[in-house]
Amino acid sequence: MPGRIPQSFIDDVVARTDIVEIVGARLPLKKSGREYKACCPFHSEKTPSFWVSPDKQFYHCFGCGAHGTAVGFLMQFEKLEFPDALALLAERAGMELPREAMSPRERGGADLFEVMAGAARFFEQNLSDSPRARAYLAGRTVSDSTAAAFALGYAPDAWSALLNRFGTGPDERRSLSQAGLIIERDTQGGERQAGFYDRFRDRLMFPIRDSRGRVLGFGGRVIGDGEPKYLNSPETALFHKGRELYGLYEARRAHADFKRLLIVEGYMDVVRLHQSGITYAVATLGTATTQEHLHKIFRMTSEVVFSFDGDRAGRAAAWRALENALPLATDGREIKFLFLPEGHDPDTLVAAEGASGFEQRLLGALPLSEYLLRQLLGQVDLTNVDGRAKLAALARPLFMRMPDGVYRELLVDRLAAEIKMPAARLKALLLPAGTAKEADRQTEPAHGGRGRTQAGRVAASAGRGNLLRQAISLVLHHPEAARTVDAIGALEGVDGPGVSVLRELLTQARDAERPTTAMLLERWRDRPEFDRLTELTARPALVADPQAAASELKNAIEKLADAHGAGRRIDELLRKAEESGLNIDEKTELTALLRARSRPGDGAAR
Ligand code: UTP
Ligand code: MN
Repeated sequence: MPGRIPQSFIDDVVARTDIVEIVGARLPLKKSGREYKACCPFHSEKTPSFWVSPDKQFYHCFGCGAHGTAVGFLMQFEKLEFPDALALLAERAGMELPREAMSPRERGGADLFEVMAGAARFFEQNLSDSPRARAYLAGRTVSDSTAAAFALGYAPDAWSALLNRFGTGPDERRSLSQAGLIIERDTQGGERQAGFYDRFRDRLMFPIRDSRGRVLGFGGRVIGDGEPKYLNSPETALFHKGRELYGLYEARRAHADFKRLLIVEGYMDVVRLHQSGITYAVATLGTATTQEHLHKIFRMTSEVVFSFDGDRAGRAAAWRALENALPLATDGREIKFLFLPEGHDPDTLVAAEGASGFEQRLLGALPLSEYLLRQLLGQVDLTNVDGRAKLAALARPLFMRMPDGVYRELLVDRLAAEIKMPAARLKALLLPAGTAKEADRQTEPAHGGRGRTQAGRVAASAGRGNLLRQAISLVLHHPEAARTVDAIGALEGVDGPGVSVLRELLTQARDAERPTTAMLLERWRDRPEFDRLTELTARPALVADPQAAASELKNAIEKLADAHGAGRRIDELLRKAEESGLNIDEKTELTALLRARSRPGDGAAR
């Protein structure tokens, strides 16, 4: 319900958000002039027609017409509702959400958090009461204090332990079910005995907590052998596997800030690494490392090491991680890969070699560039022409995923040296698209202004409807410039639906501390004019230069006011002509006014 979120909060979020960062974290953006471009994520294309304007804080695809602000981008790209998109940006900006701004996940989830917290306490209590579970943990050399730090627990060996404890009424059972803790019985057999049973039974429980320590879900391991080895919470309103990292809460508690994060595969790996002093280890939850994970990680540190088992599955997972990491491989970030000896995982390795041995291995982790090159070179035979062509073909999609920058340049240089080819030639092979087009773009002002910057041209050729549209467009494209125009006074008494939109936009631009296009647009999101206004923003700016825009705006508004004045004067003269007749001067004036109005492009006619 966007209407209930305070506008000032939305303004703040928008002001503290950079659309280039938001989009750039999800697509490889390439700088081009003052703007950035990429292949559009919303339709399929080979050459980029998706543009992001840092000035306007707006994106626009010339191919499919998609456009909007950073909030709109997240909604479209991540398929989020408005409050969720806003919440994500707010979190990124380190802002506390006002209650009205809480996403459905947070609001609807309020009692689910309670349910999860209760369940976690219940499991913890059961662990201390279960000699069997404690013996298992001890057998895996997990100390009591480590178990407590991770709030490890035990789900009793029963079908309704949790259910009996918390599922006291229908509402409670519904909450438990929504939290993924109990499962509804299949009542197909026509039995009337509908009911629920515990999802987790006779398992060692690993609570998965968010950055504030709230339990979102659980991983449950069988005690000993059994299938499945790990059972995880289902996706719920709180829990999204592809987003959370096991151990992150604990890692953050151990460090104010980390030099690096180590990403491992298993719950047990995290627990044992922390216990040995490697407290910057986290794990994905049985999934590949997603972009969402990586965004989260790079908000906290600039160095990440992926650790993988040395087996086939580990190597496949490593390559997937590399592919996901490429769009985020920017200058100043270090992404490394650690391959463990076959037969080991971090748990067993740290047991065998200790923390210092493990950290010694970490120092030798392969940088992403190195890993990428080795993988590529390992797949081709460079002694023949076919091999080189194959190499280029293999490398191209990978390089295309990387953001433009020193890092990618260096990588191309390295590859060129490796295959003994001039770097420029390899670059042309790997990144051929866009060079000519780019030169074109750069001569244009922002958003294809086509050089139409001469004052006067624009407004002179406009009827009232056009004038209004142009004035609105100028304010949207140049809110800062619009503040310098004292236009609101000039519009006094001028009426019409469009005029009130213009007046309101001008007031919003004037009253904001640092107005941007995106901020203005976000104020209209739940009003009927929103689509029209974003469409206007997506069109090329009439004028690129802010100063020229200010004078154009002044011009357009004066013309609107004049037209309005002229319209009133015409009415007055016509009335007088009917009542008492006009003198010669008045007749001349009326003729001139009427002629001016009927001239296409300059009149007051609606
Ligand atoms: P592993 O089988 O490598 O687990 O799976 P592990 O952590 O080394 O477990 P231990 O040492 O045998 O106790 C790695 C991760 O994959 C997910 C879990 O997140 C696990 O930690 N996984 C594995 C599942 O989700 N389900 C499974 O059945 C197995
Ligand atoms: Mn293990």
